[in-house]
Amino acid sequence: MAKKIPVGLLGATGIVGQRFVQILENHPWFEVAWLAASDRSEGRAYGEAARWKLKTAIPARVAQMHVSPAKPDGAPKVIFAALDASIAAELEPQFADAGCAVITNSSALRMKSDVPLVIPEVNPDHVKLLECQAWRRKSRGFVVTNPNCSAIGLVMALAPLEQQFGLETVMAVTMQAVSGAGYPGVASLDILGNVIPYIAKEEEKMEEETRKLLGRLNGSNIQPGAFGMSAQCNRVAVEDGHTESVSVKLKKKAGPEEIITAWNEFRSVPQELRLPSAPEQPVKYSTALDRPQPRFDSDSGNGMTTSVGRLRPCGVLDWKFTVLSHNTIRGAAGAALLNAELLKAQGYLE
Ligand SMILES: NC(=O)c1ccc[n+]([C@@H]2O[C@H](COP(=O)([O-])OP(=O)(O)OC[C@H]3O[C@@H](n4cnc5c(N)ncnc54)[C@H](OP(=O)(O)O)[C@@H]3O)[C@@H](O)[C@H]2O)c1
Repeated sequence: MAKKIPVGLLGATGIVGQRFVQILENHPWFEVAWLAASDRSEGRAYGEAARWKLKTAIPARVAQMHVSPAKPDGAPKVIFAALDASIAAELEPQFADAGCAVITNSSALRMKSDVPLVIPEVNPDHVKLLECQAWRRKSRGFVVTNPNCSAIGLVMALAPLEQQFGLETVMAVTMQAVSGAGYPGVASLDILGNVIPYIAKEEEKMEEETRKLLGRLNGSNIQPGAFGMSAQCNRVAVEDGHTESVSVKLKKKAGPEEIITAWNEFRSVPQELRLPSAPEQPVKYSTALDRPQPRFDSDSGNGMTTSVGRLRPCGVLDWKFTVLSHNTIRGAAGAALLNAELLKAQGYLE
C-alpha cells in the first residue's frame, strides 16, 4: 500500500479538531502526524489536552501524541485548520507562506477574492483560484476553504435546483445545533428550554457564501450567483445537525417529481472520482411527513449526506422544504477532508 500523506491539525483540541481526529483514523490516504492548539494545550499529551466530546473512543495513537506550538516550523505540508476566525486570520497565512496546503474551516479568508470556497459536489472548478494566490507563487503553499456549517447544507440542496431550473429567490430560516458554537460554546442556562434568535455574523455568512459557492469562475474572479437571498439564524437545544426551513422561487417552473428527482439523482465529481469520504448519495429526499430530524438523520451517509424533506407549495415563493446537514461533519471536518481528497485527486498535494 502507498505511504500515507502526513497531515497536521491546527486547533486539534476543539470540537472540529476532534472530528478531524475521528474521521482521519484509518483514512486510506492521510495520517495525523502533528497536532497544534493554544498555549493552554501546548506540550501536553493530546489525550489530556482535548476534552474529548465524541461518542467513539479517542484513538490511542493520537491520544499519546504531544500538542505542538501553532507555528509552521516542523509542521507537515498538509494542514487541516479549525481555529477561531480571529486567530486563523493571523496563523493561516503564515502556514501558507511557509509552503503548506492549508485546508480550513474558518471564515477568516473565505470571501477573499483569490481564495477558493469549495464544496466538491457543487463547484470543484473554483479550486483553480488558488493559482492566483501570492503564497502559491512564492512557496507553493495555498489556502482552500469550506463554507459555514449552515451554508453547506443549504447549498447542497440548492445546487441541483440551480443547475436544472435556475434560482430566482431563496429564503432560509435555520435551527442550529449547539455543537456549532464549539466547546464550551453556549452556556447551558442560556440554551436549555430556549431558542436564541441570534448567531453573530451567521446570516451575513450564509447569504454571501451561498452566492459565492453558486457563482461562476470567470478567470481570476468568482461572479456571485445573482439570485435574491435572505437568511435568519437561530440556535436551538440540539446536539448535532443544523435544520433549515427553506423557500425558493425558481426561474423555470418545475413540478414536485422533477425537483425530488433532481435531488435524489444529484451526483458530481467526488462520486465520479470515488473519493474516500464522498457519500454515495449527496442529497437524499425523505418522503416521511415528519423528516428529516436531527436525532435520526444527521448521520446519514456517515454525516456527509444532506437530508431533504417536506417539499410542498409555498404561498409566497414557488416551493418550500426542510434541509438537514451534520454541522461538524459535512459542515466542518468532513467538508475539509473531502476538499483535501479533491485536491489530492487534482494533483495539488504532491
Ligand atoms: N463547530 C462547528 O460546527 C463548526 C462548523 C464549521 C466551522 N467551524 C469553525 O471551525 C473553527 C473551530 O471551531 P470549533 O467549534 O472547533 O471551536 P473550539 O471548540 O472553540 O476550538 C478552538 C480550537 O482553537 C484552538 N485555539 C484557540 N486559541 C488558539 C491560539 N491562540 N493559537 C492556536 N490555537 C488556538 C483551541 O485550542 P485549546 O483547546 O488549546 O484552547 C481549540 O483547539 C471556527 O472558526 C469555527 O467557526 C465550526
